[in-house]
Amino acid sequence: MTLLTVEGLDIDAPGGRALVRDFSIEVAAGEIVGVVGESGSGKTMTALSLLGLLPDGVAVVRGEASLGGRPFLRGGSVRERPNATMVFQNPTAALNPTMRIGAQLTRLLTFLEKKTASPVNKGRRGRDGRRARAEELLDSVGIAEPGAVMGRYPHQLSGGMNQRVGIAMAIAAAPALLIADEPTTGLDVTVQAQILQLIRTTVADRGIGVLFVSHDMGVIAQMCRRVAVMYRGELRECADVDDIFHAPRDEYTRELLASTMEQAAGGR
Ligand SMILES: Nc1ncnc2c1ncn2[C@@H]1O[C@H](COP(=O)(O)OP(=O)(O)O)[C@@H](O)[C@H]1O
Ligand SMILES: [Mg+2]
Repeated sequence: MTLLTVEGLDIDAPGGRALVRDFSIEVAAGEIVGVVGESGSGKTMTALSLLGLLPDGVAVVRGEASLGGRPFLRGGSVRERPNATMVFQNPTAALNPTMRIGAQLTRLLTFLEKKTASPVNKGRRGRDGRRARAEELLDSVGIAEPGAVMGRYPHQLSGGMNQRVGIAMAIAAAPALLIADEPTTGLDVTVQAQILQLIRTTVADRGIGVLFVSHDMGVIAQMCRRVAVMYRGELRECADVDDIFHAPRDEYTRELLASTMEQAAGGR
């Protein structure tokens, strides 16, 4: 069943410069769908627009989106916050540098408790309950010593550890949809593989749908069966990754693949 439907999304910069044009996509529950394209092609703006997080002056001017059958964006205006969360590109920068990991997690859990419709924290109120829940979340993203990590600041942890924390924070709200924007860009190759695996198991276990954004066709091929190819704000094609590798229809997709192959060959 379709979880996320986006149709005809247009995003403008101040002054009306087109950043994204006619972007459409569908994601089913438990499915990871890719969005690929070179830097500046509008992937991050597309991702942010779905969460109502666009920078000042940048706006959705047309398009519709619904999650689980509930429209949250119609005619370009955001009607409600969808049950979706995001994993960001630079995990260390995405966390608050002045707060210990434990405090960041328990603050988030306090916030979620206040939202009436959050079933996740039911019966877990109180300081001890929140600390226990925070440790559980860290444990569920493969952090071996949650208690110790809770006492650390982001700069005391590796990028990979911080991204595990970022994923823990993203799943704390029990989202139906996760948007991962270049979640492993900048991480070492071995750490990258671990984080990709963590995202796969996390979403499979919880039946979460994922919009997985990357400039890297190799990473996309590891994660997704279907991918949308963007170029200069335009959706060039949306197809099975296998078909794209074997028979890309779009000229730009062919160029993107060629550069991926070159990089792979150069990296050996
Ligand atoms: N705050 C902003 N205001 C106006 N334009 C922006 C802003 N941030 C990014 N852009 C522009 O939006 C376009 C798409 O950027 P982005 O979505 O970040 O691309 P990608 O994630 O694919 O690298 C780029 O041309 C970029 O310069
Ligand atoms: Mg980006």
